[in-house]
Amino acid sequence: MKRLLILIILICFSNAYCQKFEKLALTPPMGWNSWNKFGCDINEDLIRQTADAMVSSGMKDAGYAYINIDDCWHGERDSLGFIHPDPQRFPSGMKVLADYVHSKGLKLGIYSDAGWKTCGGKPGSRGYEFQDARTYAEWGIDYLKYDWCNTEKLNAEGAYLTMRNALYAAGRPIVLSICEWGSNKPWEWEKNIGHLWRTTGDIYNCFDCIKDHGTWQSWGVMKILDMQKGLREYAGPDYWNDPDMLEVGNGMSVNEDRAHFSMWCMLAAPLIAGNDLRNMSKETLEILTNKEAVAVNQDSLGIQGFKYSEKDSIEIWFKPLVKGDWAMCTLNRGKQPYKFSFDWKNEKVIDDFAKRETKFAEIIYSIRDLWLKKEIGTTKEVLNKDIPGHDVLIMRLIKM
Ligand code: GLA
Repeated sequence: MKRLLILIILICFSNAYCQKFEKLALTPPMGWNSWNKFGCDINEDLIRQTADAMVSSGMKDAGYAYINIDDCWHGERDSLGFIHPDPQRFPSGMKVLADYVHSKGLKLGIYSDAGWKTCGGKPGSRGYEFQDARTYAEWGIDYLKYDWCNTEKLNAEGAYLTMRNALYAAGRPIVLSICEWGSNKPWEWEKNIGHLWRTTGDIYNCFDCIKDHGTWQSWGVMKILDMQKGLREYAGPDYWNDPDMLEVGNGMSVNEDRAHFSMWCMLAAPLIAGNDLRNMSKETLEILTNKEAVAVNQDSLGIQGFKYSEKDSIEIWFKPLVKGDWAMCTLNRGKQPYKFSFDWKNEKVIDDFAKRETKFAEIIYSIRDLWLKKEIGTTKEVLNKDIPGHDVLIMRLIKM
């Protein structure tokens, strides 16, 4: 038995099947996904137009790179088991679509499921993992979101490992986005399997509600935020906690969208827009392309932020950044405006995980408001600011 185990380990180390493609996501992936806004109502025109809009709107310049097709692109498997896209919705085929997206300087993502069927009832990859991975590689796919519906008694770690190995064997670097909703504590075992993993069930387009679907529930932005507790030490460059895709521009108020986006930046979460990029309001675009907020998210240290304090409706979060800077975000979860006052000299922010300290008594920081996009003082003076309901004050503390 022991010999067999050693043999398996040796084979694994010596062949090309047992690895993850590394360095594909050294900062949290940024892109767009069809699901939140369009569900199953997708086709190749939408994907092309979205790629066009990503470039013309300035989102590409702000860092967004992936155009991800979610569930329901599928047609049938043929008699040899090869999967084909729905011939009505994707008549040109995926290779042509990938070429188009690549010609815009963007990357194409696709979706499958570890079970027999996807959540939308389309063919899953179970039993076809290596064949599907080859197909995706041939099409020129760059990102795979791999879901967890209809998996019955499958072991999650094993199932995701199989797809990781299949992608590696197919030879095209493809980001693996694990989507098993946090059910099997993926953060404990996915670091060497995927590049990001969902930590929760699905997001729902509201600030703080729970949407009941009968057999399952989806979660408002604040509910998802609360579920990230205790997870920050599992994430880092090339392996990210994924609190689900953005709902910015899908119907919440501008303040709520701003709070949602800012908190996803603080969490070093993947920034996968979920709105209609072809028809965005000025406010939605401004939120998604705020380069200074995005810089907090994309900071090369890759350290997830943490909650420093909470009192009444107010939470204060910190995130260590390069060059000794910090991001600080004061989140007003309440509906009423809040008079926020912060006397730096009385605060001691220590991050044991990142081994960093703000040392406000010794170090002076200049304070930059990332939504006003201007300096608003230094940490020498007490900070006083009104924060509207369901909104944030997100700042960069720049070491002077
Ligand atoms: C699951 C996932 C969603 C989406 C749908 C598609 O619910 O969590 O993000 O991909 O499936 O059916």
